[in-house]
Amino acid sequence: MSKRHDTIVVLDFGAQYSQLIARRVRELGVYSQILPFNSTPEDILASGDVKGIIFSGGPASVPAAGSPRPDQRLFDMGLPIFGICYGLQVMSQLLGGLVECPEHKEYGIANIDVLKADSPIFKGVSAHSQVWMSHGDRVARLPEGFVQTASTPSCPYTAVEDRKRKFFGVQFHPEVVHSLEGQKMLSNFVLDVCQAQADWNMGSFINEAVESIRAEVGDRQVLCGLSGGVDSSVAAVLIHKAIGDQLVCVFVNNGMLRKGEAESVLSLFGEHFNMRLQYADAEEAFLSALKGKTDPEDKRKTIGKLFIDTFYNEARKCGDISYLAQGTLYPDIVESRSPFGGPTSTIKSHHNVGGLPEDLKWKLLEPLKELFKDEVRELGRQLGLPEELVDRHPFPGPGLGVRCIGEVTKERLDALREIDAIFIDEIRKAGLYGEIWQALADLLPVKSVGVQGDERTYREVCTLRAVTSQDAMTADWYRMPYDVLQRASSRICNEVSAVNRVLYDISSKPPATIEWE
Ligand code: XMP
Repeated sequence: MSKRHDTIVVLDFGAQYSQLIARRVRELGVYSQILPFNSTPEDILASGDVKGIIFSGGPASVPAAGSPRPDQRLFDMGLPIFGICYGLQVMSQLLGGLVECPEHKEYGIANIDVLKADSPIFKGVSAHSQVWMSHGDRVARLPEGFVQTASTPSCPYTAVEDRKRKFFGVQFHPEVVHSLEGQKMLSNFVLDVCQAQADWNMGSFINEAVESIRAEVGDRQVLCGLSGGVDSSVAAVLIHKAIGDQLVCVFVNNGMLRKGEAESVLSLFGEHFNMRLQYADAEEAFLSALKGKTDPEDKRKTIGKLFIDTFYNEARKCGDISYLAQGTLYPDIVESRSPFGGPTSTIKSHHNVGGLPEDLKWKLLEPLKELFKDEVRELGRQLGLPEELVDRHPFPGPGLGVRCIGEVTKERLDALREIDAIFIDEIRKAGLYGEIWQALADLLPVKSVGVQGDERTYREVCTLRAVTSQDAMTADWYRMPYDVLQRASSRICNEVSAVNRVLYDISSKPPATIEWE
């Protein structure tokens, strides 16, 4: 980023909520960065014009050997610090207080008693505000200079402060929605205590990003693979705004896209945005490579390999390319450098780049790598992308190929395209699309007897699936209203002659995955 914004650093002690804290700060219009718990003062200062630090929560126990500790020098930087849960405990311990491990843990909703209504954190907050607690340990003795500012019956030091040094801490989680005035408390810290300027918004991001893309790319050419998904679309439009025809997009139609998708990508990016678009209609190649294949892994590998070959063949036609643009987002960056490993270390590899053919030597251009998904959607809106694209559910790379269970044929794909379009249409008409993480349909290689018109039929079965999720790692099946299911089911049987039976999938993840293959 070319401009240095007022920045709040979120120091990550391994909390599931670190990213949420950073997003909440950005919702206040203030730029925030997540850094590992062991960052040095120099790391902190390098991340922007830093106005304050938030210590996140975390799963460890402060008294336990090897628990994560911040660099003690952070307390001498003259910056305000706000400790949340583990962050409060580790700050207390390092400054001379004591943390204890009581027998009972505390989870769930609590009401605090504010003891110091003039505390900067509680400005405008009600005296018995509802908060969300989730902790085992708690502070037993405060460090010198600190006072108690709120309590609950089970946790005396629910909120504390050393106003002189601008150190604050809360045992609860102000970042989660169940803490009803949590955002107000964060705002009090960020805007009042830290005096951070609220100059972070997608409108100004566009101008800064355009400037920095131009400065980086110069007169060279950039290639971008368009998938029709949100991230690559927003990245392409942003880069196009910066360098116009120095961007060339490659779009591969693998024959397993949704109904009307190839047409809409061509018309939106080619005609509306007037981008250079290299289009490969590879439907036949994909179908013939998949002929006779029914094993899910075999299908995935076949589709993946052919996609890469097709993409590189198209890329070679695009002239002298220096950069490959990717829609990498901020969570990918944070998770890939997490000092804690865990599920984060299996995050999507920066696809394709590792295995670049010898004759293609590209640098990466990742203009969204500072942004969270909701910021990317907002950026997309501001860049003029249509809402249906900006709010789109995730769609897997192998597309309908992994939803056509069994052998993939043109006829089955065409039927599935219709079924999928009807299901999504009914969900949108019912106003439920935004509540659902992902809605999908699968065609099963199972036939059943039916009666349609006066005729006995023997046709395939389809399943509909909709799930709610935060990050696709776990998912719950969506309680779809019966009338929506009924309309989808009767339209599918009336309009798609290949099927005569519709099921609704009520499996969660785990044990099932979101996709069937
Ligand atoms: P599963 O089925 O593993 O899916 O629960 C989790 C999420 O990942 C998506 N998915 C993919 N996305 N390429 C992708 O870009 C793929 O090969 C792929 N496979 C699954 C899936 O749609 C869900 O959102």
